Amino acid sequence: MRAMHISSDHPLLLRIVDDLYAQGWSQQNIFLTEALTLELAAECRKRSAEGELTPAAVGRGLNQEVREGIRGDHIQWLEPGEALACDSYLGLMESLRVAMNRRLFLGLEDFESHFAMYPPGAFYLKHLDRFRDDDRRMVSAVVYLNQAWLPEHGGHLRMYLNDSGEYDVLPTGGCLVVFLSGEIPHEVLPATRDRLSLTGWFRRRPTEIVL
Ligand code: OGA
Ligand code: MN
Repeated sequence: MRAMHISSDHPLLLRIVDDLYAQGWSQQNIFLTEALTLELAAECRKRSAEGELTPAAVGRGLNQEVREGIRGDHIQWLEPGEALACDSYLGLMESLRVAMNRRLFLGLEDFESHFAMYPPGAFYLKHLDRFRDDDRRMVSAVVYLNQAWLPEHGGHLRMYLNDSGEYDVLPTGGCLVVFLSGEIPHEVLPATRDRLSLTGWFRRRPTEIVL
């Protein structure tokens, strides 16, 4: 078996790119196939059971620290070649990267991503996905890996949009949310179940510092 691939001019990707251009974010409820969603969820649970996910930190470099009062998820960064399902996900994101560069001229050079597991009650307070001292993250992409998620389970992604106020997304398996990392404040609300996702960032080249 080979990792799944879609072309960078697939209509689904063009829709995401158009949404990003028009409003700075996009939600696709059926992005991953059910089979791939299940495989990625199983991979995330396996890694969690084997103790490979570790408490996520906030801040960067020497300022990094785990603060559960800010974010309570457990994460593991992805590398290519670890599992077929993960490589399929990375392949889809690569096609999306090419599609965005072609139409939006964002100069996105790479993609970094991690599994995230929020245990019941864990949350991530309102934030932007861009660091004060590092503006490489341009576009955030989250895919959810949760079967049969109901509104009463909580765990919404809440986005704070300029024109239309708060907008909530349920972390339902197969759904993809993409948004401009530096422009849309967002938070993760606590859930009553484990909440699984793959979160990633498309990055541009660092801005040159002229001394
Ligand atoms: C993040 C984040 C959103 C989500 O990891 O930075 O905001 O819905 N995740 O998991
Ligand atoms: Mn975020």
